[in-house]
Amino acid sequence: MKYADPARLAALIDRLATISDAGPGVTRLAYTPLERQAHEVFADHMSALGLKVWSDAAGNTIAERQGSEDLPALGTGSHLDSVPRGGRFDGIAGVVAAMEVATILADSDDLHHRRPLRFVAFAAEEGARFGLACLGSRLAAGLNTPDDLERLKDADGVSVAEAMRGVGLDPALTGEARWDPQDWYAFVELHVEQGDVLERAGLPIGVVDTVSGSTRLRLDLIGRPSHTGATPMAGRSDALVAAAQVVLAADAVAGDARHRGTRATVGELRVSPGSVTTIPGQVSLSLDVRDVDSDRQRRTAAEIVRHAQAAGDDRGVRLDYRLIGDSSPVVLPLWIRDVLTAAAASHGAAYRVMTSGASHDAQIINKIIPAGMLFVPSRSGVSHVPEEWTSPEELATGVDVLLSALLRLSDEGTS
Ligand code: GLV
Ligand code: MN
Ligand code: MN
Repeated sequence: MKYADPARLAALIDRLATISDAGPGVTRLAYTPLERQAHEVFADHMSALGLKVWSDAAGNTIAERQGSEDLPALGTGSHLDSVPRGGRFDGIAGVVAAMEVATILADSDDLHHRRPLRFVAFAAEEGARFGLACLGSRLAAGLNTPDDLERLKDADGVSVAEAMRGVGLDPALTGEARWDPQDWYAFVELHVEQGDVLERAGLPIGVVDTVSGSTRLRLDLIGRPSHTGATPMAGRSDALVAAAQVVLAADAVAGDARHRGTRATVGELRVSPGSVTTIPGQVSLSLDVRDVDSDRQRRTAAEIVRHAQAAGDDRGVRLDYRLIGDSSPVVLPLWIRDVLTAAAASHGAAYRVMTSGASHDAQIINKIIPAGMLFVPSRSGVSHVPEEWTSPEELATGVDVLLSALLRLSDEGTS
């Protein structure tokens, strides 16, 4: 049965995409007024359907639809923040899917669920602003301490705690955002694939078995700034030349056959003083290493740091580095995967069981509640860019499979 309405989904995606800093693409960073505005759209939609809606101390917004029995709840949802100049689907697709499921259930007389359903818009999933991903879901899972919120800062030196205060959230209360695992049964996140596996295979649905982990570091290379004309090439301590070697080392180490499947990226490079006529005295760079093998992930990060150390030593450039975030790959529970594949099959949707290269709230929530993930295709496999695209029809297929999975899970384990 088809329940999801592609036109309704497209309208919600369009509406949320307007809540952005100036383009190109969508810029709605974690713990900003724009992110809060998107959460209000979600809350208003759910309130209009008659659901109980609340926002927690981490900035997550939750809407509950009662089940026919008083049982632990089933959750679904994703995030509403974006990377700078990102797309309109990453995270949003899963929240809009939750809004559509809630709409379908509100409009239907014959779709029943025993368990309460909780629709969740997580705050601050993207690591783009503070380096550490999934802040909202980490707080829900009880994984972040108030110290972390003071320690993590954005490029302007604003801490997570300050950003939270700026949007009316009290970081001292984030302990209250913690979910009680006894109160939840399972969680399913729908997300765009962000790669091209489904598109290439011509498949509408992916069921995730493993989500990659990530090790993130900030490396500061401190050299000696000086005049570009008056300083001979010999004896310079050019921090940017050392940084260039780090970028190449990251690419080479992860590209090495021994590291097949590892991904390493320097995505951010801040050069100081950043002047045409001054030798770069200092460079701050980010390193993001992702893998589905936790040992290899950490070994790769350590190997790249060793290269950075050697590149600095060669040039009289000092290396300071610190860990910003470290999450292990997560294998999602087989029993939920089985429900998701059964839901796809019953809907006539061909699927593939696959790994996720990106990080997701579901991988964090799985630490306290069994979680599963559904992927829908991403055109040309691109994400974190304005060109990100999933058609309304593809999204609708994902919503129908999600709805079917939630209804199955709603009856699982009850008698
Ligand atoms: C989340 O989008 C990530 O960076 O994996
Ligand atoms: Mn996402
Ligand atoms: Mn993302």
